[in-house]
Amino acid sequence: MQITDQSGSYLGASVEGFDHTTASDDDIATLKQTVYTKKIAVLKHQDLSPQQFLALGERLGRPETYYEPMYRHPEVPEVFVSSNVPENGKQIGVPKTGKFWHADYQFMPDPFGITLIHPQVVPEKNRGTYFIDMGRAYAKLPTELKREIQGTFCKHSVRKYFKIRPHDVYRPISEIIDEVETRTPAVRQPTTFTHPLTGETVLYISEGFTVGMEDADGNPLDDELLKRLFDATGQLDEAFEHDDIHLQSFEKGDLLVWDNRSLIHRARHTVTPEPTVSYRVTVHDEHPLHDGIRTA
Ligand SMILES: [Fe+2]
Repeated sequence: MQITDQSGSYLGASVEGFDHTTASDDDIATLKQTVYTKKIAVLKHQDLSPQQFLALGERLGRPETYYEPMYRHPEVPEVFVSSNVPENGKQIGVPKTGKFWHADYQFMPDPFGITLIHPQVVPEKNRGTYFIDMGRAYAKLPTELKREIQGTFCKHSVRKYFKIRPHDVYRPISEIIDEVETRTPAVRQPTTFTHPLTGETVLYISEGFTVGMEDADGNPLDDELLKRLFDATGQLDEAFEHDDIHLQSFEKGDLLVWDNRSLIHRARHTVTPEPTVSYRVTVHDEHPLHDGIRTA
């Protein structure tokens, strides 16, 4: 296994010669350390079936199956499918996922630390995923803004981007909204937390899922503060030119492993949609997202 830093960017490493079936425990520890410090590891020359992809994920942690069944691979439910290419005339997974800034499962009480993506059908032209390292972004915030958010909390919800399912057609929108709020009520997290593996302070907000801020006593804070944070971290830059935004490209055979604690990401916007299919596996490592989360 050879690990090389990606050139021309503040994050990312390329990993050659990784085979999850023969990797030693030390190799796995090294790979995970690379994910925590470089934030994205691109495993080269992988060509894995959904079953094999899951097996690779299981070497890194405990898989989390997506709560909403329409995203699941029909044979391997732990695999989340993003696809706009029907198979035998049938939609598998969900098209056009994640076209907004988010951390995976940020709206859930116990988000996982690691996300793995294995692109299957790779777009020709508009390839890649945008990332922002929210540890680095926090470090760059003006001192005054850091002080303003100290001790505050954020609410995260899927409500803005919940995707209507086939069986929701003809249902009243109020009923669907009630279902979303009952099943996935907004969760409260500290605005910043200490990354349990690196010690960095991470600003845990995203334009897609963060819906409000509160002070320590639960009093709502002006939305303007959240907007300033989105702006400072590049999340309102529709041209994707902000200094903190990293476009991670990939090619067929790549498998991306990233730090879902530090990174927020966003699928690339395309005016003319191209065929694109990717598989995702998500895993909990040995730690909760941050030490403030106590899991049973
Ligand atoms: Fe995502």
